[in-house]
Amino acid sequence: MKTRSVIRGVGAYLPSKVLSNDDLSKTIDTTDEWIKQRTGIARRHIAAPGELTSDLACAAARRAMQNAGVTAEDVDLVILATTTPDNTFPATATRVQAKLGIRSGAAFDIQAVCTGFVYALTQADNMIRLGQATCALVIGAEIYSRILDWEDRGTCVLFGDGAGAVVLRAETTNGVERDRGIISTKLGADGRFYDSLYVDGGPATTGTAGYVRMQGKEVFKHAVEHMSSLVLGLLKAEGLTTSDLDWLVPHQANIRIINKVGERLDLSDEKVIVSLEEHANTSAATIPLAMNQAMERQLFKPGDLIGLTAMGGGFTFGAALLRW
Ligand code: COA
Repeated sequence: MKTRSVIRGVGAYLPSKVLSNDDLSKTIDTTDEWIKQRTGIARRHIAAPGELTSDLACAAARRAMQNAGVTAEDVDLVILATTTPDNTFPATATRVQAKLGIRSGAAFDIQAVCTGFVYALTQADNMIRLGQATCALVIGAEIYSRILDWEDRGTCVLFGDGAGAVVLRAETTNGVERDRGIISTKLGADGRFYDSLYVDGGPATTGTAGYVRMQGKEVFKHAVEHMSSLVLGLLKAEGLTTSDLDWLVPHQANIRIINKVGERLDLSDEKVIVSLEEHANTSAATIPLAMNQAMERQLFKPGDLIGLTAMGGGFTFGAALLRW
């Protein structure tokens, strides 16, 4: 008998204000055509003035809890992946915990930029397997619109605001192959690329939040490599191949990255979940946002093998393999 972490609910939230590519072309030198062709993005959502990352996180978490049929009393772990916390400290997860009325267990943030959700999921899975938690809220929530240089067309067109969440529950399995839950996870980092994708501010440097700076081509190349090789590694370790994979939920940064990862894994387009067009790159929130879209389309069936994979600033990278 083994304890596995099973995703019992998924939820998402996008702020109501929508900023289209055409809207952006009125303020910077860009076009809808360029953005769509080079990235696959059509629009992004922008948080309202006064709306905080914790607000987005709570909205997504409430929906995930409702879908999972759990209440605040059931939850004993809150992990929030974010690059845009409400304040430098405390962890925004503690505010989310309080707003949701959760009173037991740990609450903390994880900072792994666009890999944040996979890092958070891994941490929650490890704590559940060790018996340190029984019901975890794992959230990715971001307000990138507040750390973008809106005059830099190379970055500001790529990102958006949003949140996604899952409820992970500890369930006992009999070790049979097709049992539900997270099978394995793998995380990595290569800090030599710190300057390839970073924010030029922070409490210890400028004392301001700063803006996203990026070497797009460098990020692109490493994203394709890490996102595909991590999934291949996880499959191999389980004695599985890419033909066993029913779905891939990749980090939603650029359709060309996603397509190249799909090609390397020899997956047909229908098996790769893409929600990027609607919300752009919402960093740690993209994977649960894409999962939520797949749930709404009723794509995942019990027993399906699903791969999650992401790469972000740091560089950080991570992947997970799970059985639905
Ligand atoms: N609108 C119009 N033109 C733009 C533009 C925009 N928003 N942004 C850049 N350009 C221009 C460039 O200035 C350049 O013009 P030039 O040839 O006159 O110098 C031209 O388009 C090509 O730019 P380049 O940077 O070579 O384009 P690219 O094909 O590499 O695409 C990215 C740029 C940013 C879309 C791409 O590199 C990318 O997506 N990288 C990964 C970024 C990412 O996903 N980051 C987050 C990962 S977690």
